[in-house]
Amino acid sequence: MSNKVVIGAQWGDEGKAKITDLLAQDADLIIRYQGGCNAGHTVVAHGKTFKFHLIPSGILYKGKTCLIGNGTVILPEYFEQEIEGLKKENIDLSGLKVSPLATITMPWHTEVDGYSEDNAKKGKIGTTKKGIGPTYTDKMARIALKIQDLYSPEALNEKLDVILPLKNKQLKEVYGLKTYSKEEVLALCDKYAKLFEPYVCFDWQEMLQNFKRENKKILFEGAQGVMLDVDFGTYPFVTSSNPVGGGAATGSGYGPTVINEVIGVAKAYVTRVGEGPFVTELTDETGDRIREVGHEFGVTTGRPRRCGWFDAVTMKYACLVGGLTSIALTKIDVFDRFDEIKLCTAYKDTRDGKIYTSYPTDVYIHKYLEPVYESHKGWGVDITGIRKYEDLPLNARKYLERLEEVLATPISIVSVGPDREQTICK
Ligand code: IMP
Repeated sequence: MSNKVVIGAQWGDEGKAKITDLLAQDADLIIRYQGGCNAGHTVVAHGKTFKFHLIPSGILYKGKTCLIGNGTVILPEYFEQEIEGLKKENIDLSGLKVSPLATITMPWHTEVDGYSEDNAKKGKIGTTKKGIGPTYTDKMARIALKIQDLYSPEALNEKLDVILPLKNKQLKEVYGLKTYSKEEVLALCDKYAKLFEPYVCFDWQEMLQNFKRENKKILFEGAQGVMLDVDFGTYPFVTSSNPVGGGAATGSGYGPTVINEVIGVAKAYVTRVGEGPFVTELTDETGDRIREVGHEFGVTTGRPRRCGWFDAVTMKYACLVGGLTSIALTKIDVFDRFDEIKLCTAYKDTRDGKIYTSYPTDVYIHKYLEPVYESHKGWGVDITGIRKYEDLPLNARKYLERLEEVLATPISIVSVGPDREQTICK
C-alpha cells in the first residue's frame, strides 16, 4: 500500500469511515488531520457499532498508531467520552497519540457557536454547535490554546493574560454570555492536562520521521468533505478547516511529498446537512425515498440529511481541488430498486439559459440554477452480495463507467453495503 489520503468528496457523510476502516488494515500509522468532533464516523466491527468523532477508527485494529494531528481542534469533554466508551469495550488505546500542536476547543467556543446559530436570522450556517468555527477563528487570530500549553505554566499564564480580557469583553458585550476568571480557566486546564497526558505525543517529530524512514504505510483520514472546505466549499456554508487532500499536508506534520494517493469518497447520490446551496436537492418523494433507503440521518446531530441526485458538476470540481487520484463510490446499492437514476452533468441558469459545466463558485447565484440531467436505467436486482466488478449488472456498470467518463477520474472502490466485505476493489 502506498501512503493514502481518504477524503470526503461531497458535503461529508459519504461513507469515509468504512473506506478508512478498510484501508486502515494495511496501514501502520493513521492520522486524522483536520476538523473536530463535528465529524461522525460509524464503523461496524467486533459485532458492534462504534461511533467516532475525533479518534481515528483505526484504533479498533491492534498495533496501529493513531495520531490526532496538529490540524484538528479538540473538545476535551468529547475526547473524554470517546476514550471512556472505547475503554468500556476493552479497546487497546496504547497506540493513540495526540499532537501537542492540536488546538483546544474551550467552553466559550461551543457557547459562541451555539449562540450564533440560535440567534442567526440571516446567514445561519446550520453548524454542529461543537465550537468548530470559533476555535479555528481563534487559532487564526493567534489567541487559541494548544495542547502543549497545558504542560507549560509559563505559556498558559502569558497566553491567558492576553486571551481572557479579549474573550471576556467579547463574551459579555457582543454575546451577553458568561465571562471566565483566570482561576476558573486554570483549573479547567489542569483537568484537561490530566485527561490528555497519557496520549500527548511530545516526540511526534521522531515518531513521524521513524515511520517515514522505515517506509511504513501512512493513512491520512479526512473529515467532512470538499464542498465544506473553508477555501473551496460553498462558502460561507462550510466548516472552518480544509477537508481537501491538501489539508493532510498541513494538518499532520508531514508535508505533501509523502502522499502517493488521494481517494475521494462519494455516494452514488448526494446528501447535505445544515444550510447552503444544493442544486440537485430533491424535496419530493424521490428525495424521501433516498433518505429512507439510504438511512440518511446524522451521526453527530441525528438531523435528517437533505438528499439529491449525483452532481457531477460539483464532483468534477472536487476531483480537481481535492487532488483526487481515484474515487471510492459508496451506497450504489441504495438504487437497487430504482427504475431510473439521474445524473446531473450541468447547471442551467434560469435567468438567461446559461449552461455551466464547471462549478460556479459564487454560491449566491445557485438559487437561480437548475440541474441538467441525463437519465440512466436502474438494474432492478440486489447487488449487495456482489464482490467482483464484472458481476455487477450491466446497467450498474454502465452508470459507473459514465461517471468515470464525466469525472475523468477512475473509480477504484465500489461499496455495495455497510460491511467491510461488501466492497468491490477494481
Ligand atoms: P461546523 O463544522 O460544525 O462549523 O458546521 C459547518 C457546516 O458543516 C454545517 O453545515 C454542518 O452541518 C457541516 N458539517 C460539519 N461536520 C460535518 C460532517 O461530519 N458531515 C456532514 N456535514 C458536516
